[in-house]
Amino acid sequence: MPDHWITDTSQQSINMSNYLITGTSRGLGLCLVKELLKRPATSVGLIFTTTRSAPTPALQRTIDESAGRVVNVIVNPVDMESVKAALPAVEKHLNGAGLDVLINNVGVLPFSNGIKEMDNLAETFNVNVLSVQNMTSVFLPLLERGKLKKVANISTTVSSFAYQDVFARLPAPAYKVTKAALNMLTLQWGMEYLDKGFTIFGVSPGWLKTELGGEGANLEPEQGAEATMKVIDAARKEEAGKMINIHLEGFGEGHGDFYQGGVVPW
Ligand SMILES: NC(=O)c1ccc[n+]([C@@H]2O[C@H](COP(=O)([O-])OP(=O)(O)OC[C@H]3O[C@@H](n4cnc5c(N)ncnc54)[C@H](OP(=O)(O)O)[C@@H]3O)[C@@H](O)[C@H]2O)c1
Repeated sequence: MPDHWITDTSQQSINMSNYLITGTSRGLGLCLVKELLKRPATSVGLIFTTTRSAPTPALQRTIDESAGRVVNVIVNPVDMESVKAALPAVEKHLNGAGLDVLINNVGVLPFSNGIKEMDNLAETFNVNVLSVQNMTSVFLPLLERGKLKKVANISTTVSSFAYQDVFARLPAPAYKVTKAALNMLTLQWGMEYLDKGFTIFGVSPGWLKTELGGEGANLEPEQGAEATMKVIDAARKEEAGKMINIHLEGFGEGHGDFYQGGVVPW
């Protein structure tokens, strides 16, 4: 299939969806891109990726092998001016078509030696919460033109009030606090945009072997990406504002039963 057919969105079929994923230089974000590329071009059209600087070799390879389906945009999601500046580039590539799914994936997990010593709350908030607000509000006009109108905010069971006993020994209070704030941000968006046809929700992607998750994690990032895309595909209006867990068999005993799907309790 020639490249121009894919990037010419005037020829997009009715079932073709366009995606934008933030934080795709590595980890879960990059795996989500690869997961979407497994699907035919008749179902997944353009996949916009974002990086703060030039794409990493791994992302560049993915772009080069994508026959024009992956388009990288350099943007710092924490910086509103940078996000606004990125909008026209995405809009131009879409050529009148809409954006169907926004996946807010960027995130950081800094450690602190106890809550008193936590000195990274503001910068962690900016990455884990403010970036989501910036991206969602600025790209809203393109999402309004989209068919699916889905926004998936990548959260974590670590932010659940109900599970804090399980995660008590993880010395990352700024992560817990800001992801809990992200969940409330998701709820605000989910409720306010429900009647406008949007499904805005959170996803817990599992504990993944990435730079953030570390080598001790129990899932490969590819497993998390596949399971996360299943959650995103299946998300319906009833799930707006909620955090949905991935569903994977075989992780019951010894792993906190965390991959059983459904709504994560707050
Ligand atoms: N890994 C897990 O076990 C796990 C579990 C639950 C939830 N999650 C969530 O999944 C998401 C992805 O995590 P991951 O494990 O893939 O992490 P990762 O491998 O560390 O990748 C994080 C991504 O976020 C980007 N990023 C980091 N700081 C940024 C900043 N200040 N501004 C803009 N982009 C920034 C990174 O881009 P640069 O290359 O530019 O730094 C990178 O692309 C996060 O929201 C995380 O909270 C992960």
